[in-house]
Amino acid sequence: MRAAEISDQLTTVLVTEEQIHAKLEALARQVESDYDGKELLLVGVLKGAVMVMADFARQLKREVTMDWMAVSSYGAGTKSSGVVQIRKDLDTDLTGKHVLIVEDIIDSGLTLSWLLENFASRGAESIEILALLRKPEAAKVEIDCRYVGFNIPTDFVVGYGLDYNERYRNLRDVAVLAPHIYS
Ligand code: PRP
Repeated sequence: MRAAEISDQLTTVLVTEEQIHAKLEALARQVESDYDGKELLLVGVLKGAVMVMADFARQLKREVTMDWMAVSSYGAGTKSSGVVQIRKDLDTDLTGKHVLIVEDIIDSGLTLSWLLENFASRGAESIEILALLRKPEAAKVEIDCRYVGFNIPTDFVVGYGLDYNERYRNLRDVAVLAPHIYS
């Protein structure tokens, strides 16, 4: 669905599907050039990254392998704790691999900070991050993200994989959720 079809549930459209696709195409050209002659493993972080992974991977004019990881934050204050639990681990041995982590959003940065440390301990040759969205003002830890799609404000956003209680992941655009939906 498009934002216009559920406009009563949204306040602002931040990034349209067309803008996302154009950005992913540009990032794909950059990644092709940066990893020329190297094998590349894309690692998607479930569930939010499903849409980015599907569209970005298909933009690439080269072969890649893909794997998935599912993690969840837990502990006091859940997401803000920075403690991450692996719900589904990779099927791939990272030893000697060039890894590109594909994420929908960097919010506090805690998930990726944990993942980077975890992947580094598995002997990857290189680890970089591609994130479609980043909320710079929400950062609790600075993440060195090589490929960023769009910097956005610290609003509650949904769409293109991002959810509110599992809803709105199938929205094609990225939009700010209207407060009456969650308050
Ligand atoms: C979201 C997103 C990132 C993480 C970013 O996942 O996909 O993985 O939060 O937040 P952070 O920078 O504050 O750590 P979420 O835990 O909501 O799970 P989901 O992808 O299954 O929706």
